Amino acid sequence: MSDIRRSREDKQSAPIVSVLPIRQEGNADKERCARQTAAFFGATYLERRGRSVEELFAKTSANVVVLAGDEPSLIHRQAPEMALRYHPGMSLLRLREHQRGRQDRLLRAIGVRPGDVVLDATCGLLGDALLLAAGVGQSGRVIAVESTFLVARLMQYAVRWTRSIPPDVAEHLAGIEMLWGDSGRILSKLGDASVDAVYFDPMFHHPLERSAAMEPLRIFANHQVLTRDVFADACRVARRTVVIKCRLGDKLLSDLPVLPDKTNASFAFAVWQRGRP
Ligand SMILES: C[S@@+](CC[C@H](N)C(=O)[O-])C[C@H]1O[C@@H](n2cnc3c(N)ncnc32)[C@H](O)[C@@H]1O
Repeated sequence: MSDIRRSREDKQSAPIVSVLPIRQEGNADKERCARQTAAFFGATYLERRGRSVEELFAKTSANVVVLAGDEPSLIHRQAPEMALRYHPGMSLLRLREHQRGRQDRLLRAIGVRPGDVVLDATCGLLGDALLLAAGVGQSGRVIAVESTFLVARLMQYAVRWTRSIPPDVAEHLAGIEMLWGDSGRILSKLGDASVDAVYFDPMFHHPLERSAAMEPLRIFANHQVLTRDVFADACRVARRTVVIKCRLGDKLLSDLPVLPDKTNASFAFAVWQRGRP
């Protein structure tokens, strides 16, 4: 697991404060844990004193409040009514289907095999990474990369300490190597054919569906588009496959040497395979 350090730039552009949920105020143990959580997120710990999140935004220059409860959540000044937290959501249903022997569409598109090393270059809330971890099994590796510091931190917390999930989910999560960084930069430093597959799921400008879990992520996420150079690097690094989640009409399907896994769905997995003409 890589260490995460915040850059000076990051600190200046996004002041963060951390508080306890109101119901936990006055509990010395919870407060001690909350101070540790604040440090983990690079946030300044504040006494809550019964203040609402709106009051905290009004009284501080913070852009983000970290609610340092048993499982932390992030609230952004732009949308104080929403909280970003880890929850397996739909990926739990996908995992259960996979366990019943119905192959997951992403795992099929990538051609994941037990023992594979897969780089999830845009891991977000680790929904797909959870399926990848199940697909590669204990002998494989999933390296998950997230460029937004706070989202990366939230997911690092999730893979280590989330309790409110089934044990098998926790076990898959614990095996994921969760990195903070720009995947383009990370790929540029990896050797040729050093992983089996690379997967990209960049943010869509217009989401496919409004999901309660993904909506708060939109505020925190990096909305950068995938460039040709990064794609070329992914093809250099992948022994077998590079897969990009995209809309069916996306220009990348005609611009890049990829084939969609489906032509009659709301989105496609655009697949590049080494050696395919
Ligand atoms: C659509 S979400 C991924 C959702 C994820 N597949 C899941 O199942 O939860 C895209 C994520 O990639 C991150 N991201 C965008 N560009 C990135 C980059 N260059 N390097 C690493 N992460 C990036 C965004 O911040 C966002 O969290």
